[in-house]
Amino acid sequence: MARINEPEIAGSTGAPSARTRVYALLGNPVAHSLSPEIQNAAFRAVGDDAVYVALRCDAEEVPGLIRGLARAGGGGNVTVPHKAVAAASVDVATDAVRHTQACNTFWLEDGRVHGDNTDVAGFREALRALIGDPAGARVLLLGAGGAARAAAYALLGENVDAVDIANRTPERARRLIAALEDDPRLRALPSGEPEGDARYDVIVNATSLGLRPNDPLPLDLTKLGRAGAALDIVYAPDTTPWVQHATALGVPAADGAEMLLQQGAVAFEHWTGRPAPLQAMRVALARSTRH
Ligand code: ATR
Repeated sequence: MARINEPEIAGSTGAPSARTRVYALLGNPVAHSLSPEIQNAAFRAVGDDAVYVALRCDAEEVPGLIRGLARAGGGGNVTVPHKAVAAASVDVATDAVRHTQACNTFWLEDGRVHGDNTDVAGFREALRALIGDPAGARVLLLGAGGAARAAAYALLGENVDAVDIANRTPERARRLIAALEDDPRLRALPSGEPEGDARYDVIVNATSLGLRPNDPLPLDLTKLGRAGAALDIVYAPDTTPWVQHATALGVPAADGAEMLLQQGAVAFEHWTGRPAPLQAMRVALARSTRH
């Protein structure tokens, strides 16, 4: 006999139904993404009737998909190359979206479509997990693309002392600094490389080096006067060559797994208004990379 007032936890055990809320990752490509595994594990863990899928789409489809998914009671994430168009598509943008000109998370609130760039909070949490409170730190930031912009904005919010930006194309580092209102703590290294004896509390790799198996290291850490810690935004199943390089030198290091997890946790909290089940998400991430 069916029980009356059965709690609505269909999503935790059953297949999607007419009541299931839909969340989607919008990008191109998306097939490699681990977010579906992480977020579906989170919905299952809290017993939400919701499903998270990945949709490969073109830029011109992004504004309509964001609005449609949000207004249908769901939401989602946005990844490369659509974060800028997403930032321009939401009704209400967080400071992180405005300063990074990138939106990676959207949801409906008070009838309006809201957007955040949870890479900023994700980076902050990953950095804190590695070195504790970064206030006062001297940071070397490698790269000047979208990931570097999120990292730089997060670092300024953490009251670091200085951020030197080394990028293959120094002009792009100068543009990043201009976009962050020429904060005096930011400096573009003119040669695109750090000086030989420079001393840093933490070095962040926000280039895409490490994504492909034969990439060179983003930086040989032995060339610095001091490398206090190394945080790689790139994530790979058996960690990245740069993290292995740092670890071999005795430099505390972490890859992008924690940032991936933490940005997903903040997104989940925007969607549901509830704390993210971090442990279930962590287990799903570890499991999905062992395929
Ligand atoms: P994302 O949005 O993920 O940051 P991106 O905007 O394409 O991606 O930025 C990639 C970053 O990696 C840039 O800083 C890029 O340097 P350039 O600005 O000079 O292009 C850096 N990068 C990519 N390939 C590189 C390589 N082979 N050597 C050094 N830096 C590289």
